[in-house]
Amino acid sequence: MLLEAKDLRISYRDVEAVHGVSFHIEEGELISIIGANGAGKTSILNAVMGIIPAKGGTISYQDHDITALPAHHRARLGIRIVPERARVFPLLTVLENIMTGLYGLKNKTDVPSRLSWTYDLFPVLKERSKQLAQTLSGGEQQQLAIARALVSQPKLLLVDEVSMGLMPILVDKVFDVLRYLNKEENLTILLVEQNALASLSISHRAYVLETGVISLHGDAQTLKEDPAVKKSYLGA
Ligand SMILES: Nc1ncnc2c1ncn2[C@@H]1O[C@H](COP(=O)(O)OP(=O)(O)O)[C@@H](O)[C@H]1O
Ligand SMILES: [Mg+2]
Repeated sequence: MLLEAKDLRISYRDVEAVHGVSFHIEEGELISIIGANGAGKTSILNAVMGIIPAKGGTISYQDHDITALPAHHRARLGIRIVPERARVFPLLTVLENIMTGLYGLKNKTDVPSRLSWTYDLFPVLKERSKQLAQTLSGGEQQQLAIARALVSQPKLLLVDEVSMGLMPILVDKVFDVLRYLNKEENLTILLVEQNALASLSISHRAYVLETGVISLHGDAQTLKEDPAVKKSYLGA
């Protein structure tokens, strides 16, 4: 098992937002957590990255308890996040933005190969590598945010609501890249999304999160056909 959260609880001051959630991810899986706005998706992802603390429960990664590890330490273990509404550095070039993803990396010898691998995934970023990030379109900036998380070649990629604000055609493009990374590069991915249809379409398994509790989980294809999921999340 690559990641396992057991009875995870997250609070903001005295208000509990995530009420004892358990889920796991095997190496090589693409998993999504779907749920409405405010369900607790971002809280869970941030707790897995170590950006916010877990108030209860445990998170283990590669069979080690990481619940108390700081985020930069988790990053060194190969966990990276594409945050919700990820911001790029507007006054840095595309290349400089990507290089920030290598911060803290010990072995710098393979930087050129990581960079060319990243540019192959997002050719538009290669074309624009010397441009300031602020000159990119919204969709290109979203790709840049993903590239920055990928350049370190993580083992587990956490992706928060990447489809938000993107045109449908770009959502498809970004999801195609995620599917490719999972299938061909064996990258394990945890997606959290309000866009249930798009995320279920590329996931192996999924969890449905309702106000801080997991109400359903299973095979993504089966969930797509589930009447309750259809009614609440697929507009059918
Ligand atoms: N920084 C914060 N301070 C207080 N409450 C928060 C904070 N962040 C999130 N919450 C609350 O926690 C709940 C879950 O939020 P969030 O994890 O952002 O959900 P989602 O990502 O599914 O929209 C919501 O009720 C939200 O208002
Ligand atoms: Mg969120």
